[in-house]
Amino acid sequence: MKTIGVVGAGLMGSGIAQVSACAGYDTILRDVDQRFLDKARAGIEKSTAKLVEKGALTAEVRTAALGRLRTTTELEDLAGASLIIEAITEDAAAKTALFRELDGLTGKDTIFASNTSSLSIADLGAGSGRPDRFVGLHFFNPVPLMPLVEVVRAVTTSDATYAAALDVAKALGKQAVEAKDVPGFVVNLLLVPFLLDAARARERGVASTMDIDRGMMLGCGHPMGPLTLLDFVGIDTVVRIGDIMFDENREARYAPPPLLRRMVAAGWLGRKSGKGFYDYSGKELVEVVL
Ligand code: CAA
Ligand code: NAD
Repeated sequence: MKTIGVVGAGLMGSGIAQVSACAGYDTILRDVDQRFLDKARAGIEKSTAKLVEKGALTAEVRTAALGRLRTTTELEDLAGASLIIEAITEDAAAKTALFRELDGLTGKDTIFASNTSSLSIADLGAGSGRPDRFVGLHFFNPVPLMPLVEVVRAVTTSDATYAAALDVAKALGKQAVEAKDVPGFVVNLLLVPFLLDAARARERGVASTMDIDRGMMLGCGHPMGPLTLLDFVGIDTVVRIGDIMFDENREARYAPPPLLRRMVAAGWLGRKSGKGFYDYSGKELVEVVL
């Protein structure tokens, strides 16, 4: 495997492209708008500079990685990739349309992987036209720092594809957990109800945003409180994930509370939009009045 294509240059796609280029793969990152690609490249330059500063990456590897990273708005540029990792918005129809198009552009040996948080890998694989060469590669945010990748096997994933996915996860410097194709896999099955419960606690006024976060950090040793984590993941993304998990399971604990939908309607998507449970515009973190 020489070239990895990454589709979607948001929070996750930019991180996946970064670790791919740092691991020595020629990496092509595609988004629909050049502005998103410019933002992603700037983020990768900043993140890799920080890793060099901390001694986690050498300056030589950084320079080589930045040289191996190409960005494009043209899907055709991914035609020669051995593996394409999709990290676009959590929307089944958009992902399926993308994979259909990619199926017509790439050779039969190209493996497709989705970074979906909650959608069925079997469904996406069936829609892609190559279910046997389709696998879930679920990375964690922030990708350059979080060591885990869930490698998700659908009933249709071939042994060769699954083995190749495990190899890539390792080559990217990640530790793999082998997960079944159930909504949320291992981590989101447990994490999403917790995050939604934290939003419900805030909605009910159990405590302030900061005190809910402080409770879980100081009481349970979490590195971030759940409302900070909601802002970090993206409120829009969590609502999409919750809706998908609710549709699959029909259990109230997966249903996003109205507060989160109102925040999305207001454009308060969390850290990426500058405002969510907290306001990120100033030097000091300020709790938003909800
Ligand atoms: N690249 C490089 N360096 C980075 C970075 C990045 N993307 N993000 C943060 N850093 C650096 C910081 O600059 C900082 O450097 P210094 O020590 O030199 O200051 C260092 O990493 C530590 O960062 P912070 O001081 O800001 O904060 P921290 O110690 O809390 O660590 C964290 C940050 C690793 C993100 C930690 O807070 C954490 O583990 N949070 C939980 C994240 C988590 O749960 N992720 C999973 C989300 S769910 C998911 O991804 C699945 C899904 O489908 C939704
Ligand atoms: P994001 O909103 O930050 O970025 C999504 C990007 O995809 C945007 O830049 C958008 O322009 C682009 N896009 C949309 N349609 C496209 C297309 N057809 N072709 C190319 N680019 C397209 O989202 P994100 O947080 O990076 O999430 C991406 C995926 O990763 C989702 O499936 C999400 O569930 C999953 N995920 C997210 C997290 C997280 O913490 N945010 C963690 C793990 C997995």
